[in-house]
Amino acid sequence: MASITIRNLDEAAKQALRERAAQNGRSMEEEARLLLGGINSDQTSTNYQRDKPISPTSYAPLNRMNTSDGETIAISKVNSKAFASKRILLIIGGGIAAYKCLDLIRRLRERGATVRPVMTKAAQEFVTPLSVSAIANDKVFSDLFDRDDEHDIGHIRLSREADLIVVAPATADLMAKMAQGHANDLASTVLMATDKPVLIAPAMNPAMWSHPATQRNLQTLQSDGIQFIGPNAGEMAESGEAGLGRMAEPMEIVHAIGHLLVPDDAPKPLAGKRAIITSGPTHEPIDPVRYIANRSSGKQGHAIAEALGRAGAEVILVSGPVELPDPQHAETFHVQTAREMQSAVEKALPADIAIMVAAVADWRSVTEADEKMKKENGKGPSSLKLTENPDILKGLGHHAKRPSLLIGFAAETQELEKHAKAKLKRKNADWIIANDVSPEGGVMGGDKNTVKRITSSGIESWPKMNKADVAERLVNEIISHFEVETLEV
Ligand code: CTP
Repeated sequence: MASITIRNLDEAAKQALRERAAQNGRSMEEEARLLLGGINSDQTSTNYQRDKPISPTSYAPLNRMNTSDGETIAISKVNSKAFASKRILLIIGGGIAAYKCLDLIRRLRERGATVRPVMTKAAQEFVTPLSVSAIANDKVFSDLFDRDDEHDIGHIRLSREADLIVVAPATADLMAKMAQGHANDLASTVLMATDKPVLIAPAMNPAMWSHPATQRNLQTLQSDGIQFIGPNAGEMAESGEAGLGRMAEPMEIVHAIGHLLVPDDAPKPLAGKRAIITSGPTHEPIDPVRYIANRSSGKQGHAIAEALGRAGAEVILVSGPVELPDPQHAETFHVQTAREMQSAVEKALPADIAIMVAAVADWRSVTEADEKMKKENGKGPSSLKLTENPDILKGLGHHAKRPSLLIGFAAETQELEKHAKAKLKRKNADWIIANDVSPEGGVMGGDKNTVKRITSSGIESWPKMNKADVAERLVNEIISHFEVETLEV
């Protein structure tokens, strides 16, 4: 479906749309489309076919349904018991990203969690306690001294009755208070009094995030055992501002919460398997200040590495230059160029699984100038001589130590299936995960992806999903693959 652009909408209408979208847990674009009578393109879309039924798995099972021609297909559906009986205390800080908390609360509750909201005074300037309370189905706690309130249960009980405390958005001020142990309002007092895990989702202007004071506070909080999700890079609410500082998306926070709430003794269906993942772009130097690169963010590859690690695999992630934290459940090696990436992958062999997600630059400059190249008086740019980079996936496909399950990605802007099938053969891969990276789809750098899984036996189209959900579904397919393999032995 083509993307929707609405121009000349006044600020009040935009704000109303933003709030309505947040309350319904949709993007503004999805909400506008629904209002205009379009079709909801949510996760439950079913207009796709499978090449073969998924084998049963005990790990994050997918729902199944039968199509009219008797085929079995799998659909991703919210697991309403994922966080059953878990109590989350959500501290909402005062930032523009506070509106995303409505969506976050909805997603946590639909997974079975109870959410008790605490709002700082500043947060109430951005989103009303009434909306938060309605979505959380609980009173909003905001005052330290609220003795007359029949709901007053005190900051100690508030902090102890939760399984997890989530701070979203965590402002620079809230981080500073936490790092220094201030306890002068309900939010900071609860954070001081708790003995439970704390996850924080920072959100602030990029200059505030990179300020030495915030970075010092970050280090202090990390060494205090506080868990972080984000911030992400992207555009800020202030026009023209961009960089690291956007709050993680609600689904990213939900996944991070899942990691903290899922007990260590959860099933590890990939225990004993070793996986190599490549992620992000590569940078091919031209001179000390210029390089050839592409728009890959690394979000999909990093999400896959994390999901595999959580399923018990030993994961080696070889990452090009990205603005993402290293996944918790993987060992990460940082590289710049295609040749460095290839050498890191070679060193990590042997492996059972290899997934080449990186958007490796196809070419590099034949020469790398030692000094910055200068314009020659009015002559225009001198030509750049390129040579082809090694194809890492193809190399693995024909390697003596070829991993038993080799998966490639195909980034295409036209004739997706045709090109992806050709890559499957040419690179001797077992599966190709093909995605359309035309600019209007917003896949490169975005949070969502729509992919097709191409194998020698057919093509399976997956609905539009968050990259973390694509990662989880891919891991489920990998688990099924090895279960079937074990049964066949
Ligand atoms: N790949 C790789 N090494 C390269 C180029 C690509 O390992 N030098 C891998 C990618 O990680 C991906 C798959 O090959 O898994 C396909 O990458 P893609 O960029 O879509 O295809 P290319 O082989 O580069 O072909 P083209 O640019 O012509 O589409």
